[in-house]
Amino acid sequence: MDKILIEGGHPLKGQVRISGAKNAALPILVSSLLAEGSYTYSNVPDLKDVESIKQLLSNLGARAEAHGDKVHVDTGRILSYEAPYDLVRKMRASILVLGPMVARLQKARVSLPGGCAIGARPINLHLKGLAQLGANIILEHGYVQAEAKKLKGADIYFDTVTVTGTENLMMAAVLAEGTTLLRNAAREPEVVALAEVLHKMGADIQGAGTTVITINGVTSLKPVSVSIIPDRIETGTFMIAAALTHGDVTLVDCEPDHVGACIDKLRRAGVRISVHEKTIHVDGNDEFISVDVKTQPYPGFPTDMQAQFMVLMSIANGTSIISETIFENRFIHVGELKRMGADIKISGNTAMVKGVSGLSAAPVMASDLRASASLILAGLVAEGQTEVNRVYHLDRGYEAIEKKFSELGAAIKRVK
Ligand code: EPU
Repeated sequence: MDKILIEGGHPLKGQVRISGAKNAALPILVSSLLAEGSYTYSNVPDLKDVESIKQLLSNLGARAEAHGDKVHVDTGRILSYEAPYDLVRKMRASILVLGPMVARLQKARVSLPGGCAIGARPINLHLKGLAQLGANIILEHGYVQAEAKKLKGADIYFDTVTVTGTENLMMAAVLAEGTTLLRNAAREPEVVALAEVLHKMGADIQGAGTTVITINGVTSLKPVSVSIIPDRIETGTFMIAAALTHGDVTLVDCEPDHVGACIDKLRRAGVRISVHEKTIHVDGNDEFISVDVKTQPYPGFPTDMQAQFMVLMSIANGTSIISETIFENRFIHVGELKRMGADIKISGNTAMVKGVSGLSAAPVMASDLRASASLILAGLVAEGQTEVNRVYHLDRGYEAIEKKFSELGAAIKRVK
């Protein structure tokens, strides 16, 4: 199994290009199931999760091929209604095929995604909404089977803000008869990006990016060619890496508006950041100030940046309180950071992070995607050589991460 070795203490300097967003690419690739034809997606990141969604589309009978940063999908021939266990267990986002398949093919059978390292992650709100749209839903043998001759618009309220839940129901509702209201909808940029793609395909959607999305069903949609928005979590991760190493880094091809909460917290922590159109410049400081953070749905501080921010706080002056409100088990990185010398105490969903003067390298184990990123960041600033094991998590969501860091001057390498 691959591991990543990092010799800490090298300031990052130079320019890094931000890749397309994983969490936008996944639902957008899936949206091709809604209309028969050929699609071209550009700025698609080369990631394991994108590979998994391509496999899933191929398994359903579509053609999905990558050429550089482009993915061509042809959904002329859909032969199967089933997303099997072997594919869904690799990636929970596979549940996104449920809405579009029922909308276009009248039925779908999708393996139920189980919990994962960061939490139980139920899909009850996806299923409740789909049932409100008129689908008959049966759960048996670890699969969800949904059928509807014709979905009908409905007034749907989400008890909890859910990103893929909003995306799934938006895709189901675009071909439903009548009007659907999605209330307490997720406002994440990835939801807006999907709505824009659906609109380009001919859907009638208003309000994406607000808490109420209105969808007037249409009878058919057409294929499109679109570009994927920049990855805001990769952007945040590189901003923190630059700050941590007292570096001087320019992030290009990013979307500063999508990382507002992160920029605000970093500036409060004393990091010098300047923004110009699609570019962010981070000029690391010598010292950081502790800042409290509470994860929230967008536009709040993202749960996907909590672990990385904790690394910065672990060497800041003072004590920071970090509250995780989205997932119940998203402090798995804490044990590993403590082994590197961080002073962190957990109580329920809160971590008290007391800044220390420095971290020391250690062999560590990655447990999920963003926790893995936090260990890489800790390695960049720790004294000595850090060995990050189980890096396959990283390959799910960060394109060429060690190449990007080493081009910025980090001493980082992957060993087989
Ligand atoms: N929830 C329910 N019922 C549901 C759906 C969600 O109770 O039916 C709860 C979850 O258990 C959680 C909260 O609602 O407590 C929010 O979960 P959400 O559904 O928004 O998460 P998701 O859609 O499964 C996406 C991202 C995650 C990101 C979260 C939160 C994708 C493919 N995944 O997951 O990304 O952390 O939103 O922003 O878009 C990552 O990239 O590393 C990652 C985990």
